[in-house]
Amino acid sequence: MNNFTFTYPTKVYFGEGAAADALKQELPKVGKTVMLAYGGGSLKKSGVYDELKDILEQAGKEVVDFSGIMPNPTYAKVQEGAALARERHVDFILAAGGGSVVDCCKVISVQAMAEEDIWDMEYGKGQFPTEGIPMGAVVTASGTGAEMNYGAVITYEEKMWKGPIVGSFASFAILDPAYTATVPAMQVLSGAFDTLSHAMETYLGNSDTDNVSDDVALSIMRNTVVNMRRLLVNVNDMQARGNLMWDSAMAENGILKVGRLTDFQAHQMEHQLGAYTDCNHGQGLAVIHPAYYRHILKDAEAKFTRFAKEVFGKDNAESGLEALTAFIEECGLPTKMGQLKSKVEITPDILRKVADTCNIIKSGPRELSRDEVYEILTECL
Ligand code: NZQ
Ligand code: ZN
Repeated sequence: MNNFTFTYPTKVYFGEGAAADALKQELPKVGKTVMLAYGGGSLKKSGVYDELKDILEQAGKEVVDFSGIMPNPTYAKVQEGAALARERHVDFILAAGGGSVVDCCKVISVQAMAEEDIWDMEYGKGQFPTEGIPMGAVVTASGTGAEMNYGAVITYEEKMWKGPIVGSFASFAILDPAYTATVPAMQVLSGAFDTLSHAMETYLGNSDTDNVSDDVALSIMRNTVVNMRRLLVNVNDMQARGNLMWDSAMAENGILKVGRLTDFQAHQMEHQLGAYTDCNHGQGLAVIHPAYYRHILKDAEAKFTRFAKEVFGKDNAESGLEALTAFIEECGLPTKMGQLKSKVEITPDILRKVADTCNIIKSGPRELSRDEVYEILTECL
């Protein structure tokens, strides 16, 4: 284990009916004006919007609506939300949605209180915000674990860039599996694959192998695979959705990263692919992972062998990778770039741009060259 300090600022309320209980305890601690932020319509359709609004109003809060946060939230949407928060003197932000809504709100929170443009501050000056409007998260689609970390993933369209911006931690997160009941099967599986990816990417970081975090990561991977398979049998299995919801939080709340370095090279490729194509995050990862792992298999053979045994019950690294590839197909997730729902046709030219602009990770099994990133991506065409 490397040295570490660990602290946790987010209080989690998990289970059926968690919202009523959580908000009863949390709302007395927050100011009068609450921004209720959500996405493109699912919150209203599912009835969760009315439920949350009623609870807020009964608690005497003035509700400021902020809607239309899109999947893969944009920097422009962050600025719109921050302007509204300032104009209406918002005291608290309640983000209700999947990773996109939660991420957008994390950055709205800090941008609303910062004098300067947050991207210029973080990427221009290398400074990070120290204050933000307090916020809470209500998860309606799991997978990213965004509700338990402060890193938001934002698309800056003008710069053709998708990547992390440091925002606020939610002070509390509400995880009610029943709120995910209306998420379409393909989105549930895409989100769950994102969870699996987070655990795999953390596990493959270039750290010593004697690490308790690896054991936890392998458990999360195994549990994610088991519960995704349960959903293939019955998509409405709420026990499975609940397990996946906590797998999702566990995979990206920092616990798996304790005392170790991480890889996250597949994520870097997928994020930049997202900047050009706006594709679904979990589905982009499903396409990229097998090709990436074929390239680095020999650089981390012992780790891949352990992964093969403990996650898929296979004997060696190669058969573990075959099992991962077959599992992606079994789930009906995309395996080729052409199957991603992209706003533009994915051509070798676009993939060259992705390869030339994505982050290159130094703490994975091996540092890739940009040509190799391009090779990996074109193998997915
Ligand atoms: O917009 P609405 O109408 O709400 O529809 C959403 C959206 O179309 C729908 N949805 C959400 N809850 C629903 C529902 N539909 C029916 N019933 C419900 N209860 O699901 C669709 C996808 O939502 P989105 O939030 O985009 O999905 P996800 O949770 O996968 O988030 C993806 C975003 O998170 C980033 C990704 O890059 C991407 O931008 N990530 C954030 C991370 C983090 N902060 O830690 C880590 C991840 O690696 C990831 O990069
Ligand atoms: Zn992810």
